[in-house]
Amino acid sequence: MANQQHDQSNHGITKQAQVVVVMVPLPAQGHLNQLLQLSRLVLSYNIPVHYVGAITHNRQAKHRVHGWDPEAAANIHFHDIEIPPFHCPSPNPNAKIKFPSQLQPAFNASSHLTEPVSTLLRVLSCKARKVIVIHDSLMGSVIKEAHSLRNTESYTFHSVSGFAVSLYIWEQKGKTMEENELFPRDVPSLEGCFTDEFADFIAYQYSNFQKFSTGYVYNTCKLVEGAYIDLLEKETIKEGIKHWALGPFNPVTIPERSKGSKKKHFCLEWLDKQAINSVIYVSFGTTTTLDDEQIKELAIGLRESKQKFIWVLRDADKADVFNGEERRAELPKGYEDSVDGIGLVMRDWAPQLEILAHPATGGFMSHCGWNSCMESISMGVPIAAWPMHSDQPRNTVLITKILKIGVLVKEWVLGDEIVTSKIVESAVNRLMASTEGDEMRKRAAEMGESVGRSVAEGGVSRMEMESFIAHITR
Ligand SMILES: *[C@@H]1O[C@H](CO)[C@@H](O)[C@H](O)[C@H]1NC(C)=O
Repeated sequence: MANQQHDQSNHGITKQAQVVVVMVPLPAQGHLNQLLQLSRLVLSYNIPVHYVGAITHNRQAKHRVHGWDPEAAANIHFHDIEIPPFHCPSPNPNAKIKFPSQLQPAFNASSHLTEPVSTLLRVLSCKARKVIVIHDSLMGSVIKEAHSLRNTESYTFHSVSGFAVSLYIWEQKGKTMEENELFPRDVPSLEGCFTDEFADFIAYQYSNFQKFSTGYVYNTCKLVEGAYIDLLEKETIKEGIKHWALGPFNPVTIPERSKGSKKKHFCLEWLDKQAINSVIYVSFGTTTTLDDEQIKELAIGLRESKQKFIWVLRDADKADVFNGEERRAELPKGYEDSVDGIGLVMRDWAPQLEILAHPATGGFMSHCGWNSCMESISMGVPIAAWPMHSDQPRNTVLITKILKIGVLVKEWVLGDEIVTSKIVESAVNRLMASTEGDEMRKRAAEMGESVGRSVAEGGVSRMEMESFIAHITR
């Protein structure tokens, strides 16, 4: 097969054994998962990986990983740090700003990792020839110690698209979008994307790494965002920052279930019975909570579209996902019976990557979090974009206007207006049952195939990874 992942076991250069990598993720699912996936890739080059987090967040990361054999994680050194208890409020479905402010206590509590991480880095730096820290851009303050150790280098992982980061750096330099043809005219501003509290948090974390970081790491692929990675190189040449597009981090093929492993998930069995490209997968990730009225409109819109669907209906994560019950959102009375055989409503954790990889899945209604975008792109599935907060409105521009592999469900400028069932119905049909949708599906499939090839021997993503590994082990 052309598209094997970077998991050839024999990259064994002795020099590499003396280099260790330390991953420091932000405790939010999309972030935990991306660095866990990257850990697996780095490990495949026989480089020891240490993954640091609070006990509950490491547990969350391991518990929810999918698309690869969890036993592969056995070789990652998890440092489960005990931190003081933090507040764990439920998400507020009626909040005006959709940013998951209920996670802020966990973000704040990460400051308790600073001491243990410093100790770990000091210990490793005595034993290893070189220590490489790959930290989330929002954990800059936790890895301060890295700057004072002689044999330690830090790399910043940006969990968002190259498009979003290049635009951010462009604007930081006081330039306008109109000055660069790479940015479409009407990219939304960041207004309404974050809470003020989180904006302050970002600024504080950035102030702690910007002077020190030697490279930026992205879960993206030059085939998808090459122009933006080039722009980033150009814009940061003075600062000497290197940019590494090492994605996709997620596997591009799903391994066959080996005998004796867990039973196939019921939703995958349901998909097995559906026609090719006939199902739209609906999920807004782990940081979105819809209010009752919106849930009702979405429910009716999906039903009226007459398309098959899998809908993951859950509230956003809390700061500790193992702490207490989730709200069970109400559906219109008798709804599930009324869509029997047509739609599947799931309340639990869904094997998203496997759903996207399934031939029956022909579209993805998504909030356009970057993790979801990358998974959809690598599985060749076009998107119906419904951005909620953070970088999502901008990712939506990338998906719909630049890559042209998606339709818009909701214009960001509409703010907190309800998306009616009619809008949902028409977006679903535009993606799943129109010539325009078919063309997007074709483009998405082609992009998925080339991204798949890019991680195989000689592919652009594989070469970027090899060059990164050579660089950190130099
Ligand atoms: C997080 O930390 C900031 C800065 O110290 C503080 O102002 C804010 O109240 C904290 N928020 C939460 C939810 O703990």
